[in-house]
Amino acid sequence: MSLVAENIRVSYGRRDALRGVSLTAQPGDVTAIVGPNGSGKSTLLGAITASLPYRGRVCLNGEDIQTLKPWQLAAQRAVLPQASRLAFPFSVIEVVRLGLQTGTAGDRPEVPMQALARVGLAGYADRTFQELSGGEAQRVMLARVLAQVWAPVEDGQPRWLLLDEPVSSLDIAHQLQVMEIARDFARQGGGVIAVMHDLNLTALFADQVAVLADGACLAFGTPQEVLTDGTLSHAYGCALRVSAPPPRNIPYILPHAASA
Ligand SMILES: Nc1ncnc2c1ncn2[C@@H]1O[C@H](COP(=O)(O)OP(=O)(O)O)[C@@H](O)[C@H]1O
Ligand SMILES: [Mg+2]
Repeated sequence: MSLVAENIRVSYGRRDALRGVSLTAQPGDVTAIVGPNGSGKSTLLGAITASLPYRGRVCLNGEDIQTLKPWQLAAQRAVLPQASRLAFPFSVIEVVRLGLQTGTAGDRPEVPMQALARVGLAGYADRTFQELSGGEAQRVMLARVLAQVWAPVEDGQPRWLLLDEPVSSLDIAHQLQVMEIARDFARQGGGVIAVMHDLNLTALFADQVAVLADGACLAFGTPQEVLTDGTLSHAYGCALRVSAPPPRNIPYILPHAASA
């Protein structure tokens, strides 16, 4: 039971956005995808979620996603896109219920409120989604995907959270809250793949990290293995300095200029 992407290639017209990227994510882990703007992170998530055409193969819990029906995919993984807009003036609780209807917890009407409480927005159920701040809206969308795959393991199979920049609009406290939700989901046996910009949060919360640059995977491994001066400076094209102080040796990253 894992999520395996093999030799994924995606082109937009004549431009190659992914040039043969492979990645294996295990349930129980938070797997992060990092890399500079335009390196192909969202495109890779788009292939893994079967939301854009790709060459190569993606297997979810042992089955090629091309052979799964939309409802089978929706039962196994929930997707948080990088930016979500809604055309209708839904209330917050209605937005979260959309997740419930997409997934398998449909007969559990208590789940949407529990999901809202999980992201710290229990008091927001009757607010209009469009009137929320960017960060509040992002957390409501997370509640929606949580409602879709509420149980990290169902019928002995892991469920997957596939998150594109889940903390991009959040203050530091809510960044930690959301990453803890992701980690808890994984620790209970689910799988998480998260596109991340913040390398320090990635070092704190990810079990495995894929570093993308220019449509290719530069490195894949634990934060200690891949978040290094050389790999990051090469990927991002600027001088970065990584330290990993004992006892836990969790890397933290500063721009070279700041540590001078
Ligand atoms: N729909 C599209 N049409 C054409 N080019 C695209 C499209 N989506 C993304 N790209 C290009 O593909 C590359 C990878 O994009 P993306 O995966 O969104 O990057 P990231 O998420 O890492 O910032 C970028 O150069 C981007 O401009
Ligand atoms: Mg992106």
